[in-house]
Amino acid sequence: MEHRAFERLGRSASVIGLGCWQLGADWGDVDDATAMAILHAAADAGVTFFDTADVYGDGRSERFVGQLLRERAGEQLFVATKTGRRATAQVDQEYSEEHLRAWIARSLENLGVDRLDLVQWHCPPTDTITRESMYELFDELTAEGLIAGYGVSVETVEQARLAIAHPHIASLQIIANAFRLKPLETVVPEAAAQGVGVIVRVPLASGLLSAKFRSDTEFAADDHRAYNRQGEAFDVGETFAGVPYEVGVAAARELADCLPDDITPAQAALRWLVDQPGVTTVIPGASSVAQAQANAAVGSLPRMGDAYRGAVRRIYDSQIRHFVHARW
Ligand SMILES: NC(=O)c1ccc[n+]([C@@H]2O[C@H](COP(=O)([O-])OP(=O)(O)OC[C@H]3O[C@@H](n4cnc5c(N)ncnc54)[C@H](OP(=O)(O)O)[C@@H]3O)[C@@H](O)[C@H]2O)c1
Repeated sequence: MEHRAFERLGRSASVIGLGCWQLGADWGDVDDATAMAILHAAADAGVTFFDTADVYGDGRSERFVGQLLRERAGEQLFVATKTGRRATAQVDQEYSEEHLRAWIARSLENLGVDRLDLVQWHCPPTDTITRESMYELFDELTAEGLIAGYGVSVETVEQARLAIAHPHIASLQIIANAFRLKPLETVVPEAAAQGVGVIVRVPLASGLLSAKFRSDTEFAADDHRAYNRQGEAFDVGETFAGVPYEVGVAAARELADCLPDDITPAQAALRWLVDQPGVTTVIPGASSVAQAQANAAVGSLPRMGDAYRGAVRRIYDSQIRHFVHARW
């Protein structure tokens, strides 16, 4: 497994991490034993970077990751959590100092640590990203030793540019994949050039890029791929990367047809992302041990070849760009 540096944190992470949203909620049922087995399978396969959030299952995901840290004490595991979305009150109150300090205390408790490795603002509104008092507060939390550093998880390229303009941001998290090329062509290399670690989320377009879905695939009622297709619960870009489902199913199948037999569509999609300039770590979510293992194996696969790279560009321009490029 290759490791890459988060320069401003002075530490490295595996190029394939594990997204831990599935271990909280919103993806159908992932029971407790499966959640812990996924975490250990990823760590056994060389994954050292785990992305979670205080709201995933209202702390369930963080608590599983905390259990992993206890069960693998002594290993250099790197946990990135998120804060800012626990209140249903008005958005500007969500990011009040009182709330943020309470939520960070709760994440410390859920994870069972004295200091958080990395705290990401969880897709805040644009005016929060530009609010100087936010940076001052997180500088204070760093100085107090409660967090080792902070970053921002964003929806759009414009928000990403505002965030990386600040010299203390250690990481940027953004959606990028074969159906979301704009960040890779713009802000991802820009962030890396400034020493900001880049965490790529939704790398499989919520599973679409595995090419396993059909137009009639059914998702559980408590899976966001059933209840957020039009953005009913949160930004529609977080579900299938914002690509209309049937368009994505067809495009993913066409992309998969360009592959040799010795790599799966999901692995190709991940490897291609790892190859992109500026990417520090890619964080696929997994709902089974087999997925976690297959995804981790990508960290030691060779680069994707010209045929796949060309197919990504052709399919994006002809079928996907229209739906996503201007919006995110
Ligand atoms: N606002 C934010 O900051 C934010 C938002 C979204 C996500 N995230 C983070 O990013 C992580 C990754 O994004 P994501 O989980 O939304 O989407 P994703 O990684 O694109 O898709 C995950 C889904 O892809 C399928 N999958 C994974 N590995 C596979 C394999 N090897 N073969 C076939 N199918 C496979 C699984 O679907 P099935 O379960 O159907 O098998 C899995 O649940 C999250 O877990 C979370 O940590 C952060």
